[in-house]
Amino acid sequence: MKVEMKDIVELSKARWFVYAWSEIYGWLANSWDYGPYGSLLKENIKNLWIKEFVQKKDDMMLLDSSILLNPKVWVASWHVWWFSDPLIDDKNTNERFRADKLLEDLIEKLWNNALNHLQSTYWVNNLVPESWPLEKQTEVMRGEKVKNPNSGKEGNWTEAKKFNLMFKTFQWVTEDSTATVYMRPETAQWIFVDFPNVLRTSRRKIPFGVAQVGKAFRNEITPGNFIFRTREFEQMEIEYFCEPGKDLETHATWKADCKNFLVNTLSLKEENLRLRDHEADELSHYSNATTDIEYKFPFGWWELRWVADRTDFDLKAHMSESKQDMSYFDPVNNKKYVPYVIEPSVGLNRLFLTVIADAYTVEWEWEETRTYLKLDPKVAPIKVWVLPVVKKIGEDAKKVYKQLAEEFMCEYDEVWTIGKRYARFDEIGTPFCVTIDSSNFELGNVTVRFRDSMEQEIVAISELNEFLRKKMK
Ligand code: GAP
Repeated sequence: MKVEMKDIVELSKARWFVYAWSEIYGWLANSWDYGPYGSLLKENIKNLWIKEFVQKKDDMMLLDSSILLNPKVWVASWHVWWFSDPLIDDKNTNERFRADKLLEDLIEKLWNNALNHLQSTYWVNNLVPESWPLEKQTEVMRGEKVKNPNSGKEGNWTEAKKFNLMFKTFQWVTEDSTATVYMRPETAQWIFVDFPNVLRTSRRKIPFGVAQVGKAFRNEITPGNFIFRTREFEQMEIEYFCEPGKDLETHATWKADCKNFLVNTLSLKEENLRLRDHEADELSHYSNATTDIEYKFPFGWWELRWVADRTDFDLKAHMSESKQDMSYFDPVNNKKYVPYVIEPSVGLNRLFLTVIADAYTVEWEWEETRTYLKLDPKVAPIKVWVLPVVKKIGEDAKKVYKQLAEEFMCEYDEVWTIGKRYARFDEIGTPFCVTIDSSNFELGNVTVRFRDSMEQEIVAISELNEFLRKKMK
């Protein structure tokens, strides 16, 4: 059964994962809040990432920087000049779009004939519209009579122009250019800026890496697809410093580690993932190699995360702007160099959406469909739900809840019939339910019910924690 985005959105809202809050004021478009189960799920993904990439690696450390940095950071990193998307307006409807995304849709429609047709008609030499000059993007939009995706009619397209994605705000009491600061559009830059401090205080030797989790802000032209692309989001980024010349092999290692995390830690289905290396003409100006890890979302294959070899571009850019030496003296080889950097980066919210989409399961059960989230117990927001069969044994059931809550994220529920409660917990992705009835309880037992198989097993209360601990591995 094909899962649509609307199914995922509906379940997320109905089951307290993600909300459109500030609804009393008509909601702020494309901003989402995480409810009780969404918050826990997001936290679990983040903690597993930290465990995998910081705790289990002896060459990694975790740091946390501020959102507002000195504006010179963004001048040095080129974000002020270069961090933009091609914006195009339809004069008929006054709507704004990303020209490169509309052109990607066009290429998909032209399918096998796309390169031939676009090459011979417009002299473009690749199928990556993002890399075409703005005039070329305008020419193809107009020449191909590209339709406005909302009205379905041919657009009356303006010239495509650069639109900077950084959010500006003001520091101090004046609102002029001297007080302008930017909300960080990525967490990465601060790691470069503070590289000398990190080196000095941590006394690390290259190779080593710095990980950071935090909010980033981008004034996206076309946010959408629920939480896939939003203006406020969280990133989990790593900057791994290595010796020049060792960058490509380090890039290959990180690529494998990142995929391993998705498949073996988060238990995403391998067939829904693919690695796509950037072609030479798609590579960013600073990169030696970049790989997108793409996921098959209900709306198609899209970038989930990326692993980029950023060379020494960022450190050299900050050296030039700050006039500070950021080179490293390698005591082993007795040489001085500016390190190269490998950057594995992923959006936490996008990964959250991926985890839900991947776990969303619909099965036929007694001529009815059964919907549940087949979440790995490691990521499931609630690990165990404790439920008395009838309210009057609530006091006994609460004792079991207390015993389990010492160790696992649990919830207690005594409302509705057992069947309805199971259905609700299955949709929240809870791997185990512990049911208490008086006859079993008198013998010192409870019933454990498994989400995926719906099988049940009688377990002694004295062994319950140990039993569940083993099952969660
Ligand atoms: N430091 C490199 C960097 O920021 P990026 O490809 O622009 O590279 C990295 O972003 C990751 O952040 C993406 O792979 C995606 O998972 C996430 N991301 C980027 N923009 C996003 C947005 N507007 N909403 C949600 N996630 C986003």
